[in-house]
Amino acid sequence: MRIVTHVNEMKSIADEYRKEGKIIAFVPTMGYLHEGHLSLVDIAKKKGDVCVVSIFVNPIQFGPGEDYDRYPRDVRRDERLLEQRGCDTLFYPSTSEMYPEDFLTRVRVEKLSNILCGKSRPGHFEGVTTVVLKLFNIVKPHVAVFGEKDYQQLVIIKRMVRDLNLDVEIVAGEIIREKDGLAMSSRNVYLDPVEREQATCLFRSLLLAQDMVKAGIRDTKTIIEAVNDFIKNFDRARIDYIKIVHPDTLEELEEIHDRARILLAVYLGGARLIDNMEIDVP
Ligand code: PAJ
Repeated sequence: MRIVTHVNEMKSIADEYRKEGKIIAFVPTMGYLHEGHLSLVDIAKKKGDVCVVSIFVNPIQFGPGEDYDRYPRDVRRDERLLEQRGCDTLFYPSTSEMYPEDFLTRVRVEKLSNILCGKSRPGHFEGVTTVVLKLFNIVKPHVAVFGEKDYQQLVIIKRMVRDLNLDVEIVAGEIIREKDGLAMSSRNVYLDPVEREQATCLFRSLLLAQDMVKAGIRDTKTIIEAVNDFIKNFDRARIDYIKIVHPDTLEELEEIHDRARILLAVYLGGARLIDNMEIDVP
C-alpha cells in the first residue's frame, strides 16, 4: 500500500491512475478505523480498479467545545487494517497543507445542512462539504463510498455532487453494527461500561419504530412519542432529536405512506451518538 502525505503527490498519482484507464474508488474517513469503514473499502474494491482511502481529522467540521482534540487517532493501526483489506493508496495529509493560514473558502449545501444534526452542530456540514470537495479534487475519484451511518451527510454529499455537476458516482454502504446492534463508530470509545450498555437504546428504539409501522401505525407523532418514551428509560441517555423523514429530501413526514427513514441523535455521557434506519412499509 502506498502512503501519501502530500497533496501534489496524491494528485499526480490520481492522474497516473486515470492515464492508465483505471477506475478510482475513494473512501474518505477520519481514521480510527473499524469494520464500518472497512466495509466501505470492500465496496470500493468491487466498484473500482484502485482503492484510495483518506484519513484526515477535519478540524473545520468540529464546532468549538466539540471533540476535535480528543478525537481518537491511531494511524499505525489504521495502516495495518487498510493494508490487510487491500487498499492501494492511503492519503494522509497534514492539517497545515489542507488548510494553509490564508484558507478562506467554504462550500455549503443550503437548507439540508441546517436541519437535524446541523441544528445542534452549526457549521458542521459546511466543514464536511468543504473538505469532501477538496478531497475529490485531490484524489479525482470516479466513485466515492459513504456510509448510511451518517445518513444526513450522505444526502448532503449527493446533493453537492448534483448541484455542482461533479463527475463522481456516490455509492452508499449499509450500517455495520456490533453484535448487540450498536452502530460501529470511532466515538464509541468515549462510552464507559454503563453508557456502552445503555447505548443499545438507539438501535432498539429504531426497531420499536419499525415494529409499530409493521403493526399498521402510520402517524409519525405517535411513533416518535413511543421512541422518546422508550429512550427515557435509560438514565444516561439524553435525546437530541428523533425524526421521521423522507429518505431523499430529509423532509419531516406527518404520515408514513411509502418510503421513510427514522433518524436520531442521543447524548450518552460525553458522546453524541447517531443512528438511523429505513422503515419498511408493509
Ligand atoms: P468518519 O466518521 O471517519 O466516517 C467515514 C465513513 O465511514 C463515512 O462515510 C461514514 O458514514 C462511514 N461509517 C462510519 N461508521 C459506519 C458504520 N458503522 N457502518 C457503515 N459506515 C460507517 O464521516 C466522516 O468520517 C467525515 O465526515 C468525512 C466524510 C471523512 C469528512 O471529513
